[in-house]
Parts: sequence; C-alpha cells; structure tokens
Amino acid sequence: MSVKVAVRVRPFNTREKERDSTSVIIMPGNNQTKIIDENGKEKTYTFDHSFWSHDGYKVLESGYFEPEDEKYADQKFVYNAVGKEVLDNAWEGYHCCLFAYGQTGSGKSYSMVGYGANKGIVPISCDEIFSRINQNDQPDKKYEVQVSMLEIYNEKVQDLLIDPNKRPQGGLKIRQSTVLGVYVEGLTKYPVTSYEEINRKMEEGYRNRTIGATLMNATSSRAHTIVMIDFRQLTQVGKKTTTKISMINLVDLAGSERLGSTGATGDRLKEGCNINKSLLILGNVINCLADKAIGKAKNMLPPYRDSALTRILQNALGGNSKTVMICALSPASINYEETLSTLRYADRAKKIQNKAVINESEHDKMIRLLREENSGLKKMIEDLQSKLLGQGGVAGEDDKEAFLELKEQYEANQLALTDMQKSFQERLEEAKKHDAEIIGDEIDLNEPHLVVLNEDPQLSHKLRYSLKNLPFYVGRKQGNPKPQIILSGIGIRQNHAVFIKKGDNIILKANDNGAKEYIFINGKKLDNDDGEILNNKDRIIFGTNTILLFMKESDGKDIYEVDWETAQTEFQDDYKRRQLEESEKKKQAEINSMKKGLEEEYTKEKNKMEEEFKKKIEELQTLKEKSKNEEIKKLEEERKYKEQALKEKIEK
Ligand SMILES: Nc1ncnc2c1ncn2[C@@H]1O[C@H](COP(=O)(O)OP(=O)(O)O)[C@@H](O)[C@H]1O
Ligand SMILES: [Mg+2]
Repeated sequence: MSVKVAVRVRPFNTREKERDSTSVIIMPGNNQTKIIDENGKEKTYTFDHSFWSHDGYKVLESGYFEPEDEKYADQKFVYNAVGKEVLDNAWEGYHCCLFAYGQTGSGKSYSMVGYGANKGIVPISCDEIFSRINQNDQPDKKYEVQVSMLEIYNEKVQDLLIDPNKRPQGGLKIRQSTVLGVYVEGLTKYPVTSYEEINRKMEEGYRNRTIGATLMNATSSRAHTIVMIDFRQLTQVGKKTTTKISMINLVDLAGSERLGSTGATGDRLKEGCNINKSLLILGNVINCLADKAIGKAKNMLPPYRDSALTRILQNALGGNSKTVMICALSPASINYEETLSTLRYADRAKKIQNKAVINESEHDKMIRLLREENSGLKKMIEDLQSKLLGQGGVAGEDDKEAFLELKEQYEANQLALTDMQKSFQERLEEAKKHDAEIIGDEIDLNEPHLVVLNEDPQLSHKLRYSLKNLPFYVGRKQGNPKPQIILSGIGIRQNHAVFIKKGDNIILKANDNGAKEYIFINGKKLDNDDGEILNNKDRIIFGTNTILLFMKESDGKDIYEVDWETAQTEFQDDYKRRQLEESEKKKQAEINSMKKGLEEEYTKEKNKMEEEFKKKIEELQTLKEKSKNEEIKKLEEERKYKEQALKEKIEK
C-alpha cells in the first residue's frame, strides 16, 4: 500500500494580513489542490486529502477554531481523517508513522501538536489510546504504552525526556540489531498509564527543548522532533503470552525552507547544512522509492544510512509501516516558491509503496533470539580480538574499527536485553522513583515568576522560573554563584544579571560591568547601576535573543498577550531609535564644534577690524574738522556694511 499524503493550508498570519497578501492556493474538492502563479497559471495536484483551513471558521470563546462553513477543516476533522486511522492501524499491530512537512511557520506543529484549545493529532491520539484501552473488558488482554521523545539537531540525536544539562555530550548513538531493528541506544522509554501521564511527559519534553534552545541560543525550526509511542497488546493464550507491537512515530520535521532565503552564516549555516542533510537525504530516499514504485531504479538502494533521520525512520518509508504525510502549506503569494516545492515533495511521497505487516511475537522468543544474536556478536568480537593480538592473520585498520563498532553494538544490545527482561510493572516503579528525584517544575503562578518566550510559538511560554527565592542569577555555565538560568551567545557574561528583592519590589540588576550593555527592559537598555524595579509583564532581553516575560502574578493565560515577536519588535524599534538618537547627537556635536570655530573666527576678525578702524579714526583726528566728519560717516557706513557681510558669511 502507498504512503498517504494530505496537504493543509493555514489562515493568513498577522503579518500577511497587514500586507494584504493574496492566496495562491485553491482547493476545489477534498482531493485537489491548485496553486496559482503570478500570471494566473494554475498547477493541479491530487492527494488523499486536501484540508482547507484558510478561512470559513469562527473562533470560540475557548479559543477553538470552529468551522463556519463546511469547507473548513478544523483540528477534529483532520484527526478523524488521518489520526484515527493511525490508531486503528496501531490496534491491528502495524507500525505507524505520521510526518509533518513544510516550511517554518506553515502549520506543522499546529497540525501535530496544536495550540491551546486547538489540540493537534498527537494529544488527541494519546487521549484516544487510553479511552480505547479503558474500554477493554477482556481479562486476558493487557496493554502497555511507553513514550519516548527525541530531537535531531545538527545530525545529533538528543533525548528530550532528559534535561539538556544532564545529557551525554555528542548525542545518542543509533544501533542496528537483527532482532530489534534500528534503535536509539539509551533512549528513555517512559511507561505511561493515562492520558494525563503521557501529556505531562510530553510537556516535559517540550520544556527540555526550550531549555536546550535557550541554552544554546539555537533556532528550534532547525530541529526534527519525534514522539515515539511503543504500544503493546499482550494476549494470554494458555501459558503463552503473545504480544502485538506497534511503534507509532509522530514526526514534526524541521522547516523545509532553503537556506538562501534566510541569509544564514556561520553556525546557523552549519545547522542549516546539517538540517538540509537530513531533509535532503529524506528527499533522496523519497525520490528513490518513488522511482522504484514505477519500475525505475530497480537496483538502487535508498540512502537510508546517510542521515540520522532516515536511519531512525527507515521503516516508515518503503518498509514495514503504515505511513501518512501531512504537508503544511502557507497560502501567501510571497511563499509561492516554497509552497510549490512542498507540493512537489508531497506529489512524490504519495508514490511510495510500503509493505506493512502485523507485528506479533512472543516475548520469550524475542529474548531468546536477542541472546542468540548477542552470542554471535561475542564470537565475532573474540575472533577479531585475537586477530588484533596478532593471532590468526594480519589485522588492519578496518579490523580495529570493526572491533570497536561490534563491541559497542554488543554492549548496546546487552543493555536492551536487560531492559527487555524488566516487566512493565518494574518499569512503572522505576519511573516513579526517577520522577521523585526530579525537582518539581510546578510553580506557583500567584508568585512572581519569569516566562521564557521563544521565536517558535510551539516552544513559547512553556518554560517558567519562580522568583520566590531571591537572589536569582542569570549567566553562563561557569558563573558564580551558579546561575539558575544558564545562557550562552553574544553579549552574555559569566555573571550576567541578578534579580533581587527590595521591599515589595523585585529589581533586575547587572551582575558584571559589561553586562549592562546586554540587558534590556521593554526594549530599553538597562542604564541604572542600581538596577530597575520590574513591573508586571515587563519584557526582559538578555544578550540579543533570550526574551523573558516578568509576571508579578498570573492566571497563566494573560501571558499569551505578549509573544516573542512583539518583544523582539519593541527591542528592534528601540535599537533603531537609539541608533538614530546617537547619530543625531553626533551630528549635533559636529555642528556645535563648527559653530564654535566660526564664532571664534568672527570675534577675531571683528576685533581686528575694530582695531583698524580705531587706528584710522585716530589718524583722521589730525585732519580738518569738516572733511573729518564726512570721512567718519563714510567709515561708519563701511564698517556697518563689512560687519553685515561678515555675519552673513559666518551664518552661511
Ligand atoms: N490551521 C491553522 N489554523 C490556525 N492557525 C494556524 C494553523 N496552522 C498554523 N497556524 C498558526 O500559524 C503559526 C505557525 O504555525 P506552526 O504550526 O507553529 O508552524 P511550523 O510548526 O510549521 O513552524 C502558529 O501561530 C499557528 O497557531
Ligand atoms: Mg513547529
């Protein structure tokens, strides 16, 4: 069966509305999507679903986008059309994968995760999983759900269920075993028994993503996020337990925009290249599979191994999985090129043929097979070792590499084996113990706190810091005392800033001489050495990119009035204003010094002139009385005239 493809077009955003954008997308039916170029030429594409979410809705008091005419596809509609089928397939025992593809800001996260009342496919599915499980009344049937969350950033795999400050450097390794298939070594698999639990875990994942992005001063749109749900149905038949296993992969891909348009340089460019590497390889895999589907490129192997993303998701494309791709489209004409390229991508993806099978196995048998695989590996390792020690043939560099790789693989498999032998109950207990060790991030919203804003709306307002216990420090990792908020990037000092208490007020102060240049409150540079008293909803910027919202108290909802964009605009505006002010000041100073010079010149010349006249008058004093008066009058006039001329010259 082929990969299912859906496209979805979002409403105009505020900026597009302000610019009176026109839409380039038309959806004449449930399957057809047309894109129109500037000359009015149309291209038509056909997909499994075309979701019109551009207009025809009203916003309820809860914030939910509800259809006003039947053309509009709301979140529930999209879930019913694609999400539900994913769950049905999981229940049958198929592996499933749902991708969201599209440029940054086109609506990938909106469809996958959603915002506020507009819950996306992931949370609705999680809710559904447990309501279906709770309906089960067969005593010989049991369900086990475990969740993992990972991010691929710069080709490195990171565990999102672990605090970025505690993750191993360099990311997690991808392993491949005959019995287990491709897996990520050491990735947290967290057992959950209710919607609330899985939801809480995912919130934790998004918070960790925010910490990571803030810490590294990184752009989250460059990361791929994968939520993995390991869903098992255990059936007791006599003494044997058979297990149906379904791995559900929910993938929010990095923005597909090409680099040229973003003007990226340095690290950002490197990020972009690596992201593009994963996306590029994904594209190559899709192209190769699409060719194969129509009988071309018969002997070619899709380049799965060339990127972390395609390695992990190998099954989803052309393999054992039921796969759906949602391609998010921006309607605005300025995004025409990107939108067209997304449609082309979607058009190729729909050709891919997968071979999904029901995954049923006996747990004990799996363990036995993995043991066998491992003893095979062990034998190979021992053989290579003796070769490396100079026994039985000459060892080369390749052997050394193979030896290390096999050893690592063996160790990873052993860990996986130990893990497999734990019962679900044991896992739950371990998870509980682990959670108790984590300091609760629940904070009292009635107390003063900080809310982290992020460029990516999905990460904005997810992370909060309590300001209950002051002083509270901000700085680099090496800062002393250890900062509660650790930052990096341009302008951040080791000991950057501190929040202190003074009476009923909270004051933000620079904690290093140079830091003042890189602390801004409501867009304005912090000028005062003693710091500034903070007011409710003040926007604070550290460095150039980290934006925090100060809340004296909050019900948790009012913070949404201030987003990253507003705060960044105000900062930019003030920056421009300061630049303008400075250049005005400089200009004024130049004029002043010029004026002063001219004035000096004027006085000098005037004095000189007066001296001369005085001399002349004295000379004339000796002349006859009559002609003397006339001469004096003439001189007076000349003097007036000259003085006027001098004045005019200077003024000019
Ligand atoms: N179908 C939709 N209906 C309403 N708003 C949407 C829709 N799709 C996206 N948006 C809004 O557009 C913005 C960008 O969407 P997002 O899903 O974060 O983009 P992406 O994840 O592709 O970068 C968000 O503010 C989101 O709320
Ligand atoms: Mg997103």
